[in-house]
Amino acid sequence: MAVTDAPRIITSRFGHDDAHTIERYEATHGYEGLRAALQKRPDEVLEEVKTASLLGRGGAGFPAGVKWGFCPPGVWPRYLVVNGDESEPGTYKDRLLMERDPHQLIEGVLIACYAIGCAQAFLYVRGEMAVAQERIAAALNEAYAKGYVGKGILGTDFSVDIVLHWGAGAYIVGEETALIESLEGNRGMPRLKPPFFPAAKGLYLQPTVVNNVETLANLPWILREGGAAFAALGAENSKGTRMFAVSGHVRNPGVYEVEFGVTTFRDLLYAPVYGGGIRDGNALKAFIPGGASAPWFYEEHLDLPLEKAAVDKAGSMLGSGAIVVMDETTDMVRAALRVVRFFARESCGKCTPCREGTSWLEKILERILDGHGRTSDLDLLLDVCDNISPGIAWPPKQTTICPLGPSAVSPIASAVTRFRDEFEARLGGGPVPVTVTTKGGAY
Ligand code: NAI
Ligand code: SF4
Repeated sequence: MAVTDAPRIITSRFGHDDAHTIERYEATHGYEGLRAALQKRPDEVLEEVKTASLLGRGGAGFPAGVKWGFCPPGVWPRYLVVNGDESEPGTYKDRLLMERDPHQLIEGVLIACYAIGCAQAFLYVRGEMAVAQERIAAALNEAYAKGYVGKGILGTDFSVDIVLHWGAGAYIVGEETALIESLEGNRGMPRLKPPFFPAAKGLYLQPTVVNNVETLANLPWILREGGAAFAALGAENSKGTRMFAVSGHVRNPGVYEVEFGVTTFRDLLYAPVYGGGIRDGNALKAFIPGGASAPWFYEEHLDLPLEKAAVDKAGSMLGSGAIVVMDETTDMVRAALRVVRFFARESCGKCTPCREGTSWLEKILERILDGHGRTSDLDLLLDVCDNISPGIAWPPKQTTICPLGPSAVSPIASAVTRFRDEFEARLGGGPVPVTVTTKGGAY
């Protein structure tokens, strides 16, 4: 299959300027998935989603139908919480879905609520996403006015209210338990899990399913076309399509929907319809395959298919679908600092290895870049990493409440292992001039 033949499941309306309006949505199969769902029993809808083998699109790739099934039977009320607090560096797919096709998300929320047995959903949108907030609020008003949301939806006895909640811009609130704390009006800090996952005790300690925006956006298509049709697309362990945000030193940074397992990293970075190749004809130096916490990939990984199992086996992850490209001109010490600084600033401070470790890493890297690095600094960097995540293994061993702390280890381990000579060249060599480039990348 040519890369241009990729099926469009969740971006099918992106070509329309008015895709966010209810008129366009209804004219393009809008709310047909909800109607199909309401013809079935909730357990049949759940089975349809299990047949589709829809993996969560937030980053962890947990099967959505399985997660829904974790709600303990007979415990009410239960809630659906939509995680629209997308903040992983390089990740901006959910924002586009909320801005361009908000009704698709609302329809997905309704289908999920019907399957799980929720009468109340909360849609948590990142604070900085002003256009997404505006479009979702307008779409929700339209959906209420047309009887798709509210009491007695489409003449049935199924009723759902959706509450919109705007975040305040903290990365950590994308972690599902921190998001729940924030919704409850508390400071957004993660809870320990296990013993209790949100499906058992979440919002107000009631059963709560937290799903990512892109995950829910797939549901209208699945209910309309059937779970088997969805499962017929993609790879053995990653069904359907996925949105990938490509940023950094490519000619065409952007978000692209591709079929799992069919497209390779090379296609996505080099095909004219996608990334279009490395800027200025430069050589590729490295790329991050799935968000800032993923171990880096290089030229030899380009022919891997975009598919969870293949990327996991190669020692990294597809994560949130953010691919950040670095060309031959990239200063790898500075690149590592850039990522580590992000984690240090966004640490909530609850766990010592994360709070202290990430800022130590930041300070050591700054010292190296300032020309005051010591010969022992590379070992010290790796020692601090080992204290945050013992063995510097992948996937990381967690000494902390949430994965944020261990996420800072991958950029250091990747950069120091592959580009050790660049670090060594900096030790004790005096300050390094800062090179600022604004060419060719969105990152
Ligand atoms: P996780 O693996 O702990 O959980 C995944 C989901 O499955 C959660 O909803 C969890 O509640 C549920 N789950 C797992 N085991 C369960 C059980 N036994 N019973 C009930 N429910 C269970 O992963 P986590 O911490 O939720 O997400 C980490 C990922 O998030 C990272 O891999 C990263 O890629 C991604 N991420 C995405 C960001 C974004 O902006 N999209 C930002 C930061 C991280
Ligand atoms: Fe907070 Fe970091 Fe601990 Fe996560 S790992 S709970 S961000 S201190």
